[in-house]
Amino acid sequence: MTDDVLAVHGGAPLHGQIRVRGAKNLVSKAMVAALLGETPSRLFDVPAIRDVEVVRGLLGLHGVKVSDGADDGELVMDPTNVESASSDEINVHAGSSRIPILFCGPLLHRLGHAFIPDLGGCHIGPRPIDFHIQALRQFGAIVDKTPEGMHLTAPNGLHGTKLELPYPSVGATEQVLLTAVRAEGVTELRNAAIEPEIIDLICVLQKMGAIITVHTDRVIEILGVPKLHGYHHKPIPDRIEAASWAAAALATRGEIEVLGAQQADMMTFLNVFRSIGGQFEVTDARVPRPGVTGVEGGIKFWHPGGELQAVALETDVHPGFMTDWQQPLVVALTQARGLSIMHETVYEQRLGYTEALNSMGATIQVYRDCLGGTPCRFGRRNFKHSAVIAGPSKLHAADLVIPDLRAGFSHLIAALAAEGTSRVYGVDLINRGYEDFEGKLAALGAHVERL
Ligand code: EPZ
Repeated sequence: MTDDVLAVHGGAPLHGQIRVRGAKNLVSKAMVAALLGETPSRLFDVPAIRDVEVVRGLLGLHGVKVSDGADDGELVMDPTNVESASSDEINVHAGSSRIPILFCGPLLHRLGHAFIPDLGGCHIGPRPIDFHIQALRQFGAIVDKTPEGMHLTAPNGLHGTKLELPYPSVGATEQVLLTAVRAEGVTELRNAAIEPEIIDLICVLQKMGAIITVHTDRVIEILGVPKLHGYHHKPIPDRIEAASWAAAALATRGEIEVLGAQQADMMTFLNVFRSIGGQFEVTDARVPRPGVTGVEGGIKFWHPGGELQAVALETDVHPGFMTDWQQPLVVALTQARGLSIMHETVYEQRLGYTEALNSMGATIQVYRDCLGGTPCRFGRRNFKHSAVIAGPSKLHAADLVIPDLRAGFSHLIAALAAEGTSRVYGVDLINRGYEDFEGKLAALGAHVERL
């Protein structure tokens, strides 16, 4: 037996209150941004998750002193003595996360060279980095790909440039931002990603002294400055984690209040949640509630009883329905009456996990066609990227192996909704992006135990 296995005794509704902290997909980028400053930065509400540890390790290797601040979840990053690290040391982090690619610009600015290990992250398709490399080359970087990793130099410095992304990639937009802020001259980025985590990263960079304008129609303009300083920042809350718990409330017919969840970043999700038949109440901390004082705001999600309704949906870039909301929600859709459609348009291979749900009694059929909505990049390219979910299905326990972070959480939700005891293998992967998920499950009354 390995201790990376969780026994989940399912079939009971989850009830209670949990809290989400800073968004994983902002926190890790804000940590990289600290490298660009000449003085220390403080980041608050940082969740204790594996991705944070990876970035912390990489910063440490490059001479950034990272320590815990006085507040719970506060990180202090001192980049005063940035230094080179050996490729062997850096390669210890190979395959652990996708964040190392974002060190390119900051390291080129601080050291004049960079080494980036082989990337990791979730196995949800090929996940190329061609947009990143193309952008870095346009700034003036020389990129040398070797079997051990990627070496970069910028013998003539980095210069502002005009770029247009073929697709509004989150990572490539961050790459451009983190490089352009200290590049000489103006950078214009067209077809940029505008996810809330990107806007929050722009807030971080602006606090550091950057000059960035977000125009309409996905155009971002950055006027490079020679120096940046440290920042103090409280990140936006994790809207992916919040939606994951919301889906868990719906799938288990329970009620979960997610403290910290923010309505503005979740509007699209909330509309879908309501269309399916779920209910929610926004408990905004800024609005006084009779008889309630000093309470943090959030969103309470619950199943109102009766039947859920099927919906047709497609994932998209912001402000569309997030690809990371897809997997937990599909578990709830197995409980809705009728045929639901999920067209995944961001990643070509993000429906593999549905096989595990089928092994638990769900009826989900995946198709190569673009079902519902607009034809996407993956239509006619042999990728099974649309799913039809027929419900309601009574889920039963099964042995499950977690394939990636978000699919892993959906396996967990399915096991919690299913009658009987499921064994979920590889649960430690969930720690990459969900802080203390076992503590939160316990707080919600779930019956789970490590085997
Ligand atoms: C970020 O990944 C997130 N990861 C993902 O969350 C999230 O699903 C994704 O954005 C979309 O919102 C982090 O922030 C660490 P992309 P990223 O570049 O930046 C294609 C999670 O579980 N593409 O926006 O890697 C790519 O293949 C993770 O928290 C290229 O073709 O995503 C995909 O089809 C999973 N070439 C699309 O763009 C490139 O050079 C969007 O990817 C880059 C991307």
